[in-house]
Amino acid sequence: MKQKLEEIRARAEAELQKIDALADLEALRVQVLGKKGELTAILKSMGSLSAEERPKMGQLANEVRQSIEAMLAEKTKQLKEEQMRREIEATPVFDVSAPVDLTRGSYHPITLVQRECERIFKTMGFTVEDYSEIVTDYECFESLNIPKAHPARDMQDTYYLENGQLLKTQTSAAQNAIYKKYKDALINDGVPIKAIFPGRCFRNEATDACHENTFFQMEGVMVDKNISISNLIYFMKTMLSEVFQKDIKVRLRPGFFPFVEPGFELDISCLICGGEGCPSCKHSGWLELCPCGMIHPAVLRDGGIDPEEYTGFAFGLGLTRLAMMKYGIKDIRDLNSGSLKSLSQFADDE
Ligand code: DAH
Repeated sequence: MKQKLEEIRARAEAELQKIDALADLEALRVQVLGKKGELTAILKSMGSLSAEERPKMGQLANEVRQSIEAMLAEKTKQLKEEQMRREIEATPVFDVSAPVDLTRGSYHPITLVQRECERIFKTMGFTVEDYSEIVTDYECFESLNIPKAHPARDMQDTYYLENGQLLKTQTSAAQNAIYKKYKDALINDGVPIKAIFPGRCFRNEATDACHENTFFQMEGVMVDKNISISNLIYFMKTMLSEVFQKDIKVRLRPGFFPFVEPGFELDISCLICGGEGCPSCKHSGWLELCPCGMIHPAVLRDGGIDPEEYTGFAFGLGLTRLAMMKYGIKDIRDLNSGSLKSLSQFADDE
C-alpha cells in the first residue's frame, strides 16, 4: 500500500507538469482526490489493514493527499497568472494622443450659454473668475449685508456642512473675495474692477418645472469712480442683444436685495412677440430676467473699498433661466436629468 501511495503521488506530479489548462487541472483533481478517485479508493480500503499498520498508512495517505493538494494549488495559481498576462497582452493599448471623437458627446445647454456670455463680457474687458461651491456664512450672507437674523435668508435655505460651511445659494457669495482681490489695483493704479463669475448654486427647494435645488447663475460686478445706473443698463443691453442676436429693449423695476441700493429687477422685451403682448409674457410685453442694482456701501466697505470714493453695479443673471429661454426648454429638471436624448439636441451650436 505504501508503494501504491508513493506511485499515486509521483504520477500526479508527472501529470501536473504536462498540464497547461485550468480545466485539465480540475480533471486531474477529480481523478485522484475525487469521490471515486484513486487516493479515495485506497483510503476506503484501509479497513482491511492490521491495527498496527492502519495509523501509519493513514498518516502517509494524509501526507500524500496534502502534498497533491498543495501542488494543485500552486499550479492553479501559476496558470491563472499566465492567463491574466495573456489577457493583458491581448488588450489594445489606449492611445492618449489619439484624436477625440466629438460626435459621442455634446455640450450642455448651460455650458453653451455660459461660454457665450463669457465671450461677450470678455470683449467688454471683464475678467472671468472661478469660485468655490462650498463657502462660509460670511461670504454667502454676512459680507452681503445679510446678517444672521435677516428675513432675506428665509428664501435661501441650503445644504450645510458639519463645520458650518455651506453650498452657496448665490454667485454673489464671491463678491467680497473679488473686491479684496482687485481693490489694490483699483485704489493704487486706477484699474476698474470688471469681473463676472459664473457658478453652480444650491437651494433647498421643492422641485417642479420651474424650481431646482441646483442651478447656475452668472454674477457680474463693475466698480470704479462715477459708475452709475446708466453703465449698468448699457452693459446689460449690449450683452443680452448679443446673446439673443437681436436688439433687446430693457426696463428696470424696483426690487429689493440687501446688497444693492437701489436694487432692480431688469426685464427684457418679450422674445416671442417683441413687446406687443402674448401668452408667453402674460400679455405684458416684458420678461423678468436679471436682478441687479448699485452695490450697497456696506458691501463695498467690507470688501476694502471706500464707498465715498467708488461706486459700482452688480447683477445676478440666471444662466439656467437664460438657457431655458434661449432654447425654449420648458422643464428645468431636463437640464439635470443627464438625458442625452434631450441634451444632445444642442450639439450643433458649437
Ligand atoms: N443673488 C441674488 C439671488 O440669487 C441675485 C442678485 C440680485 C444678484 C441683485 C445681484 C444683484 O448681483 O445686484 O437672488
